[in-house]
Amino acid sequence: MREMKEPARVAELISTQRATRQYSQQAVCEEDIRTILNAGRQAPSANNRQPWHFLVVRERSRLQRLVQCGRSADQVERAAFAIALVTAHTGTEDDFDLGQAAAYLQLAAWDLGIGSCIAWVHYAEKVSEVLHLPAELHCPVVLSFGYPASQHKSQPPKKRKPFDEVVYWEHWP
Ligand SMILES: Cc1cc2nc3c(=O)[nH]c(=O)nc-3n(C[C@H](O)[C@H](O)[C@H](O)COP(=O)(O)O)c2cc1C
Repeated sequence: MREMKEPARVAELISTQRATRQYSQQAVCEEDIRTILNAGRQAPSANNRQPWHFLVVRERSRLQRLVQCGRSADQVERAAFAIALVTAHTGTEDDFDLGQAAAYLQLAAWDLGIGSCIAWVHYAEKVSEVLHLPAELHCPVVLSFGYPASQHKSQPPKKRKPFDEVVYWEHWP
């Protein structure tokens, strides 16, 4: 396969970043949390609307309650902190924008050695209750963050479809 040239730092971050669900006890300092948030707010969005707010959760009891907001969100209670993506909008473009912000937040965290995982919110009423959201705001996604626990290193290798299975050139084959 042809070698691909990429900016080394970003390529390294992208290729090593994984969904991290086991976290060490080490706290994340506020400066690093702010660095992560600052990256998220710089993500691109449709018409530059930036339809997001980032709600930081650090209280252990609230992290525990966030577990009940999704069907696969157990990791949130083990996290050093979580960021709930909050929006007044719902629609395809808004969902895409939140995805962009999530990617920026997660890569910026990984650049600091901090792992993260997305938790899809399946129970909208529950998340509104836990986060005290007003009726016009929604939270479709909660990201959990923390330094990876030692067992994270033993997770199975990253599995992605091969390049040629995903990429076509010029026209559909
Ligand atoms: C839109 C979206 C929703 C996801 N929801 C969950 C979730 O609810 N719980 C969870 O544990 N992981 C969730 N993930 C994480 C994926 O399972 C993970 O990114 C994928 O399996 C790849 O993991 P890897 O990078 O470690 O190989 C979600 C990812 C995305 C992009």
